[in-house]
Amino acid sequence: MIDLHTHILPRVDDGAESLETALAMAHMAAEHGTEYLVVTPHVNIPSTNGNYWDKDMQRRYAAFRNAVREAGIPLGIGYGAEVFYTDDVPALLADGKLLPLAGSRCLLMEFPFDIDPITVRNALSAVNAAGFVPIMAHPERYRMTAYDPRAIYDWVQSGCIMQMNKDSLLGGFGATVFDTARTLLQHGLVHCIASDAHSPAHRDPCLHEIRDYLTAVSGARDAEILLRENPRRILKGLPPLSQKLVPF
Ligand SMILES: [Fe+2]
Repeated sequence: MIDLHTHILPRVDDGAESLETALAMAHMAAEHGTEYLVVTPHVNIPSTNGNYWDKDMQRRYAAFRNAVREAGIPLGIGYGAEVFYTDDVPALLADGKLLPLAGSRCLLMEFPFDIDPITVRNALSAVNAAGFVPIMAHPERYRMTAYDPRAIYDWVQSGCIMQMNKDSLLGGFGATVFDTARTLLQHGLVHCIASDAHSPAHRDPCLHEIRDYLTAVSGARDAEILLRENPRRILKGLPPLSQKLVPF
């Protein structure tokens, strides 16, 4: 499987707190079927140091990738970021300070949880106009989606990619997020599912449980598309295979 969203890079955000923890997470992921993951630390969060792509971050990424290799963990590591959207994201993209996913043109994006659909729509258009394909991280976790998921339908039709968190479908974020996640899945509004892993215990990096869940509710082919085929296509710059869209 291919995991496009992880907070495994040590000591840069609220994810892995040490190299030891990060290696334990990498080991767990590989042991449970992940072949490749992209490290996506929070980037551009106001009131933090930003984690922008620079010499220091390049050293951190390379050191982690080497550590995984030296530990003998059979796991490919790609470079990326989870970009918190602010109005200056297009300028930061132009300056090369924000990494798309693993050399692709796809930008993983997050918003405040109380964001409104108009602001998101404008943000997605701005990223698109800057020459990147927006991937919305965990759309099921936003209040606006639970309130009215139809906006997601419009954004998917306009080419935005939707990445769901595995814990949303496994109940880790509570009943409302679970219900919203099920609704998005049933309407064909999910392109890929990732771990959004933050630690070895809480929000872990293992994808085997969600693969088994998807196989049981949607079949093995859908599990393969959401956990392997579409992430692979996204990284190669190919459009993800779409599920059959079911209008509201
Ligand atoms: Fe995240």
